[in-house]
Amino acid sequence: MAKIKNPPNQLVHSEPRLLGPDAIPIGPLALGTWRMVSTDLRANTLLIETALDTGLNLIDTADVYGLDHGGVRFGQCEEHLGAVLSATPSLRDRMFLASKGGIRPPVPYDSSPEYIRQAVEASLARLQTDRIDLWQIHRPDLYTHPADLAGVLDDLHGEGKIKHVGVSNFTVDQHEALASYLQQPIVSTQPQFSVGHLEPLRDGTFDRAMRDRLVPLAWSPLLGGRLLTGEGLRPELLTTLDGLAQREQTDRTAVAIAFVLAHPARPVVLLGTQTPKRLSEAVAALSVSLDRTDVYEIIVASEGQPLP
Ligand SMILES: NC(=O)c1ccc[n+]([C@@H]2O[C@H](COP(=O)([O-])OP(=O)(O)OC[C@H]3O[C@@H](n4cnc5c(N)ncnc54)[C@H](OP(=O)(O)O)[C@@H]3O)[C@@H](O)[C@H]2O)c1
Repeated sequence: MAKIKNPPNQLVHSEPRLLGPDAIPIGPLALGTWRMVSTDLRANTLLIETALDTGLNLIDTADVYGLDHGGVRFGQCEEHLGAVLSATPSLRDRMFLASKGGIRPPVPYDSSPEYIRQAVEASLARLQTDRIDLWQIHRPDLYTHPADLAGVLDDLHGEGKIKHVGVSNFTVDQHEALASYLQQPIVSTQPQFSVGHLEPLRDGTFDRAMRDRLVPLAWSPLLGGRLLTGEGLRPELLTTLDGLAQREQTDRTAVAIAFVLAHPARPVVLLGTQTPKRLSEAVAALSVSLDRTDVYEIIVASEGQPLP
C-alpha cells in the first residue's frame, strides 16, 4: 500500500486506491448504477463516459438492480450497462467493472454453488462482456457453507469469468469464514457508510479492511439523496456540514463525500447519481480539507451524543 502523503492535519485521501495483489488503481470516487433504470441509451452512455473521463473508473452494478427506483425487472440495470458497452465497446477496457449477485427475490438470499454459477453467467450475458473485474456476494446467505461458496468462486475465477472476489454487507466473521476457504484473496468489502451511517467505523469492517489491505466501497454516501433533503437526519449534522462547507467554500455534498474519503481505510465513494453534471461536481470533494476536529465533530453531530 502506498505511503500516506497527506499533510499531518489533512485527512482526506484523494489518491487512487490500489486494489488486489496487482495493485490496480481505482479512483477515490466511483459510479454505482443501482438507479440506472432509464432506457435512454444516449443518456446512459453519457453518464458512463462522464464517469470515466472524470476519473471514476470503477463502475458498480448488481444483477438485482432494476427491481426498484422505477425499474421493472431483475437484471434491468445490468442490461442497460450492457447496452452501453455493446454500442461503445471501447468503454469496456477503460472501466473496472464490478457486479454482485446472491440476492434472489423472493428467497431472498442464495449463495449455493449452482445458483452462484448461474447468476455470474447470466450477469456476463446481460453485461455483454466476457469477464467481471470484481464480483461481489451482495448479501450473505446464512444457509450456504462458506467452503461451498468458496469452491464455486475459485472455479469461476479459474475460468476467467470473475477476476476478483469481494463481499458486501458481510459481518467481519462472515468475511473471515469465507476468506479461510478461498484460494484467492477477498479484495474489497462494500458496506453502507456515510455521515449518517457510521457502523463500519466500529463494527470491525474498516479494521478488517486495513488489516488485509482491502478496498472498502462505501454505498449510499449521500444517504440516497436524504443528505440533501435532510429527511431523517439530525439538524445538528446538517448545520455542522453546512458550516464546514462554508469554511471550505463548497457545498454539503462535497463535505459529506470528503468525510467518507477521510477514513484511513481509504474507502472509495460509490456515487449513485444519474446526472452527469453532479458526477463532475462531486470531484470538488477531493479538494476539501478535513482534520480530526472536523471528522469527530461530524460524528458527534450525527450520533447526537458526546464521545466518551
Ligand atoms: N451493496 C449494497 O447493498 C448496496 C446498496 C445500495 C447501494 N449500493 C451501491 O451504491 C451506489 C450508490 O448508492 P445510492 O444511489 O444510494 O447513492 P447516493 O449517492 O447516496 O444517492 C444518490 C441519489 O441522491 C440523489 N441526489 C440528490 N442530490 C444530489 C447531489 N447533489 N449529488 C448527487 N446525488 C444527488 C441522486 O439523484 P440524481 O440521480 O437525480 O442526481 C440519487 O437519487 C449504488 O448505485 C450501488 O452501486 C450498494
